[in-house]
Formats: sequence, structure tokens, C-alpha cells
Amino acid sequence: MHLGTILSCLLAATASASAIADGPERRTRPSLKVYKCPRKATAKFNKSVPDQKPFPTTHVELCWKPKSIQLTFKAFDETEFYFDPKQTTNQDIWQYEVMEAFIHPGRNSPQTYLEFEVNPNNVTYQAFVYNPSKVRAEKAPFDHFFVTNPAADGFTATTTLDRKAKTWVSEVDIPLALFNVERPERSTWRMNFFRTVTSPKTFPAQELGAWSPPTRRGFISRHLWRR
Ligand SMILES: *[C@@H]1O[C@H](CO)[C@@H](O)[C@H](O)[C@H]1NC(C)=O
Ligand SMILES: *[C@@H]1O[C@H](CO)[C@@H](O)[C@H](O)[C@H]1NC(C)=O
Repeated sequence: MHLGTILSCLLAATASASAIADGPERRTRPSLKVYKCPRKATAKFNKSVPDQKPFPTTHVELCWKPKSIQLTFKAFDETEFYFDPKQTTNQDIWQYEVMEAFIHPGRNSPQTYLEFEVNPNNVTYQAFVYNPSKVRAEKAPFDHFFVTNPAADGFTATTTLDRKAKTWVSEVDIPLALFNVERPERSTWRMNFFRTVTSPKTFPAQELGAWSPPTRRGFISRHLWRR
């Protein structure tokens, strides 16, 4: 499944959520208070989208540093560790297995946000996604602005695989300057986290898991960044 397709579903769900801002569904949108490193807050999920079927447990630990956001993606029950070894930075790694974050500083529903992905081969994808219709409406623009030199810009990534324990951990730093945020404490963000699962047998079909699933009408959720 193409992630772009999923994305449009998720954004559509958000657009309709605003009409029922005070409804009961709003309270189910997950949120986290995020502290200065090394104290960590953890986003967890184990359901697929859109079906809400069992999905391998996935954790994303978050904390902030003066100049970056640290995310530690933890994939449990990983059996395939499936990636294309030929793919390098900013290529279509989302066709295989990735863990990913959509990130936007602020409370509003974004039209442009960072999409960050990492695969089991430690390859990363980082692009700002421009989606002014929010729902990826037909004929509306939908564009990607790639971060072409992530290491020089302050992105870091460290990936550890443990095939016996069936875990894959990627710890990443994402520079705050990308978002014009110089004081992360007490700022509010919207984010969502995803994981794709596929295998040589099922490729290109994928399963997708999300922290804030669209059936709960929360595409990107708010975080409070605290000291
Ligand atoms: C999925 O997560 C929920 C909430 O954290 C937990 O109660 C449940 O036991 C988990 N299910 C599985 C199969 O791990
Ligand atoms: C992963 O990639 C980063 C650069 O993005 C590099 O610094 C690091 O050494 C790589 N290796 C591992 C094992 O994480």
C-alpha cells in the first residue's frame, strides 16, 4: 500500500474531526507530556489501521534536548527486518519496513509537516510534505521537499537489530531548527507515529500500524513538551 494513500485517509479523518471538536471522540486522541532528556515518555501502539487488528507492538520514546528532538523507535515482534539493501537516503524505503514520525510544531492541523522514516538498514527518509488541502484532494498540490544532507543538518540515527529477540531499535535526533523552535520547553506539537510491516512473501502489500489511528479521528496528536 502506498503511504501517500494512507496519508490522505488519515488527513481526511482529521478534517472531519474538527466539526465535532467537543464530541467524545476528541478525548480518545492520545497525547503525551515530553520531558527533557534523558527522561523519556513513550508512545505505544499495537493495532493496525484502518482495521484495528492486532499489530506488532511498537514503542516510540520521546525526549527533547536544547537543539533536537530525540526519538527512539522500538519495533517488537519483528520477524522479517525487510528492506531493499540498494535503497539509500530519501529513497522509497516506505515500500518495505519502516518506522516513522510525522512532526509539526504547534496545535493547528498542519498543511506542511516533516515526515521522517528509518528502516532496519539504518537508512533514513526525511522530507517536508506539502499538502495544502489536508485531505489530499483531487488536483490539489501534494509535494515533498527533501532534506538533502541530513547528517550535516544535525540528524543522527543509530540502528540496532536483534534477530533472536525479534527487536529493531532506531534512535534518532531531529534538529529543532528545522521547525524554528529555539525553546522547546512548554511548546505544543502535533505528531503521529507509524510502522509498516511486509515480507518477501507479501510484498508489496503492507500492514500499517499507527499511534493515533484514523478511526479515532486523530491524525496527528498533541504533545506537551515539558522540562
Ligand atoms: C495492546 O496494547 C494495550 C494497551 O497498551 C494492552 O492492554 C494490550 O495487552 C496489548 N495487546 C497485545 C496483544 O500486546
Ligand atoms: C546509521 O547511520 C548514521 C548516519 O545517519 C551513522 O552515523 C551510524 O553510524 C549508522 N550506523 C548504525 C549502526 O546505526
